[in-house]
Formats: sequence, structure tokens, C-alpha cells
Amino acid sequence: MNATRIGPSLLAADFARLAEDIGRVERGGADFLHLDVMDGHFVPNISFGLPVVAAVRQTTRLELNTHLMLQDPLPFIGPFKEAGADSLVVHVELESAQAVLGTIRQHGLQCGLAVNPKTPVSALYPYLDELDSVLVMSVEPGFGGQAFQPAALDKIRDLCAEIERRGLDIPVGIDGGVHPGNAAACRRAGAQCLVAGSAVFNSPDPARVIADLRG
Ligand code: DX5
Ligand code: ZN
Repeated sequence: MNATRIGPSLLAADFARLAEDIGRVERGGADFLHLDVMDGHFVPNISFGLPVVAAVRQTTRLELNTHLMLQDPLPFIGPFKEAGADSLVVHVELESAQAVLGTIRQHGLQCGLAVNPKTPVSALYPYLDELDSVLVMSVEPGFGGQAFQPAALDKIRDLCAEIERRGLDIPVGIDGGVHPGNAAACRRAGAQCLVAGSAVFNSPDPARVIADLRG
């Protein structure tokens, strides 16, 4: 079993002190950074886009795992690669999911597929053969700081069973409301990547939180 990977979500960082906050979590043992890009259409919020990803790229060598909550990600795959994203996660709820995954691959980036709380995890199954990662949302996407939805744990268990049944090796991540108090349950359910925003950045000791999340 691989070690759990921890990815702080920059949505909860201090945007006026981004480089400083990134340095703190990088020194604190973060395995990757999770960048939540929102367009105000796929989710009812707008976060940040290409210039911020490019600026973050200048400040860290950590993997930039970019979570695209966009209604139409297709025209932006190339630009996000240019900006320095390493892996792109898009949503299975999109009609264009298949085409977007193909385009991500064509650009030589790692591709992941996320599933919203109301979408059954079986929606991911047709795509499993072509994914580098999967991401189970434990909150409705759009905002940081929401309460963890425990139903995500059953979805992770089902997903891990299906991945194993097919003899695949795809890390399963969880995103939303993750904190040291529920991280053990996430890990036990089979999550190998934990994304956490508020828990990490709202703490005076992010290194401690990252260590606690890893368990
Ligand atoms: C929600 C985002 C999450 C979120 C995590 O739309 O995808 O990555 O920012 O933040 P917390 O850990 O605060 O729920
Ligand atoms: Zn996210």
C-alpha cells in the first residue's frame, strides 16, 4: 500500500501572501498543491484562473494538481499546461468528459476525473482505464470550508473495490471538508490522496496538520 499523499487546496490560502503560504505547506511536507479553478457556471463561484496558476508555478516545484470546475474546459487544457499545471482533474458530470480526457492526454498531462456528491460513483467506471487518478467530492464543489459529507466514504470503498476488481492501480482522492478528525476514516475507506484547504491553511501549524492528515 502506498503512503497517503496530502494536497493542500490553495483556495484557503491568503491570496495576498500566496508565495509565503505555499512555502509554509511545502516545508510542512505537502506532496502536491491542489488548485481549484471555478468559472461561475459549473459551480456558483469564481476563484482564480491561468495567471494565478502561472504565478504559483514560479514559486514551487510541487506538483500542481489543478481541479477544473469549468462548464467548458476543452479550450483551456492547452493554456493550463502552458501555465504550468502538471495534472488536470475535470468532472464526470460534463457531457464533454470523454473529449476533455482525450485532450488532456494529448497534451501529455496526467488526467483525473472527479465525481460530485449527488453523482453515483459508477459514473466513473466507463473511464477507469484511461485515468491517472479519481477524486471523490465530499462537499458540493464551489466553496471551501464546508462540512464533510460522510457518504463519500462508501463511494470510496465502492470505487476502490471496482479498481481492484479490474486489476488497475489508480489512486483515489477525496476533496472537501477533510481535516485530521476524519482523515483516518478517509484512509481506511481507501483514499490515497487527501485534499484539504481550510484545515491546513487556517492552522497556525500546517506542518502538524499535514502530518496528522497523513496519519
Ligand atoms: C471545493 C474544492 C475543494 C475545497 C477544499 O469546490 O474543490 O478543493 O476548496 O477546501 P476545504 O478543505 O476547506 O473543504
Ligand atoms: Zn478541489
